[in-house]
Amino acid sequence: MKFKLIALLLAIASLFLFLSLVACEEESNDDEWKNDMYLVLVNKTNTVGADHIPNNLVDVDKKYVAAHKKDTIQLEKTTAEAVALMIDAMKADGIDNVTVTSAYRTYEYQEFLFNKYIAQEKADHPTWSDAEARDFVLTYSAYPGTSEHQTGLCVDLWTTEMEPGLYNYGSETPNNPYDKGFAETEAFVWLQKNAHKYGFILRFPEDKTEITGYSYESWHYRYVGIEHATKIYEKGITLEEYLGK
Ligand code: DAL
Ligand code: ZN
Repeated sequence: MKFKLIALLLAIASLFLFLSLVACEEESNDDEWKNDMYLVLVNKTNTVGADHIPNNLVDVDKKYVAAHKKDTIQLEKTTAEAVALMIDAMKADGIDNVTVTSAYRTYEYQEFLFNKYIAQEKADHPTWSDAEARDFVLTYSAYPGTSEHQTGLCVDLWTTEMEPGLYNYGSETPNNPYDKGFAETEAFVWLQKNAHKYGFILRFPEDKTEITGYSYESWHYRYVGIEHATKIYEKGITLEEYLGK
């Protein structure tokens, strides 16, 4: 009798173990799509190391780069091809003034930018402490190691409707003048309807700042591939929400 009871308990325990293994297996298979390299999440909590350099960077053809940019701009290869196709499509639709003004950034360059913005905010707000300036900058510029620009998978777009001087994050005016400029261009209207068809998503939407951790950036587009971009676009969600993170 005692033996039968032990055997029964062992059988039940084995069944539970088996079922939980099957569930785990299904869960990990279900999540496999998230391993797509074009879905890598880099944000305030998912960071990259200072030494992270994407291994398939290519130079972006000069004809797609803003004239005021002196240096060569680089992107991950597929992202570079997709942005070229997207800019060509805009051109075919009569919008011929769009270029890339920022793409892959090294950790060191992001550090330079971040520190530049802090200095700029301190100059604009002489009463602010270092911590106040830093907290404010963190709403629009990523701390080095937390910018997806370091992945080579995103671009900041530009149009000649805007002055190069407007490429200026900061708080001199309540609304970022750069954002005001880009969000009001016909390029932006086109991108809102079509960016996903080329694999790009608007990465920092106006109504999702709580989730992304950044203020609205109408100019920043992240490549995730056409399939994922279309799903994200149709659901009206962020990359964080799409990945469940
Ligand atoms: N402006 C975005 C958040 C960056 O610095 O990566
Ligand atoms: Zn950007």
